[in-house]
Amino acid sequence: MAIGWDHPDTARYYEAFCRRHGRYGDANRALIAAAALRPGLRVLDLGAGTGRTAEAALEHGVDVTCIEPAQAMRRVGAGRVPEAQWLDAWPEDGVAFDRVLCGAGVWQMLPLDQTLRRGARALHAGGAFVFNVPSLYLGEADPPGGGRDPCLLELSSRLSVGRAPSAGAGERVPNAGEIDRLLAEAGFVSVRWSWRGRLTQPALRDWLKIPPLTDVLLDGLSADERAAVVDAAYTGCDPESWRWETWSGWTAWKR
Ligand SMILES: C[S@@+](CC[C@H](N)C(=O)[O-])C[C@H]1O[C@@H](n2cnc3c(N)ncnc32)[C@H](O)[C@@H]1O
Repeated sequence: MAIGWDHPDTARYYEAFCRRHGRYGDANRALIAAAALRPGLRVLDLGAGTGRTAEAALEHGVDVTCIEPAQAMRRVGAGRVPEAQWLDAWPEDGVAFDRVLCGAGVWQMLPLDQTLRRGARALHAGGAFVFNVPSLYLGEADPPGGGRDPCLLELSSRLSVGRAPSAGAGERVPNAGEIDRLLAEAGFVSVRWSWRGRLTQPALRDWLKIPPLTDVLLDGLSADERAAVVDAAYTGCDPESWRWETWSGWTAWKR
């Protein structure tokens, strides 16, 4: 059975990952650097999770409202970042923000054109929708990193041996050019940027323990059973290997 985002084990493994590895924290810092925040702005954090994007934004003296539909994630987030206001869905039309931020999540909000148009409705003219996506999800390969497994392929291939995914591919994430076009059609003038960090083999291992990431391959197992399977597959992988991970980002200004 799929575990998804709305499960206490998901929030627990997500937080364990974030405490140990900088992937989301670093990506959020790059996102915030591209968001031109200044004290007093009203910010909507879409797909707020446990509050990692929100806390990076709050350092700039802004006022943050978080949207997080998964109750388990929202509960942990509201406990970690009580300075923000927490909602389970978009606020009513007519509430206007200066920024909509979406850290590490917009590809889960398909069809993207509808999400972009919804974001536009929440923004003042001159406000911006700022989001990021791992470039790999857009069909753009990363350059190799280092070690025996410089593309970090071993762990996923070991996990796949003897297992068939339980579901086919979902809706395709638009590529970067298509996102440019969708933004223009939704009434934005956008600037595309990118940021690149290192993903290590231990970080990949701990990331794969976040249950939604194995809902298709390891469904039927509990979160802890999945973590044990990931640990077993990790044995024999090169722990020193790492790969580059490029994130594509957009700062899209509402006309
Ligand atoms: C990878 S987490 C990112 C959390 C946070 N922004 C961060 O950078 O740490 C993605 C979050 O998006 C949320 N999410 C998924 N689909 C969503 C939707 N349609 N609308 C809003 N949030 C959604 C999930 O529940 C999850 O908490």
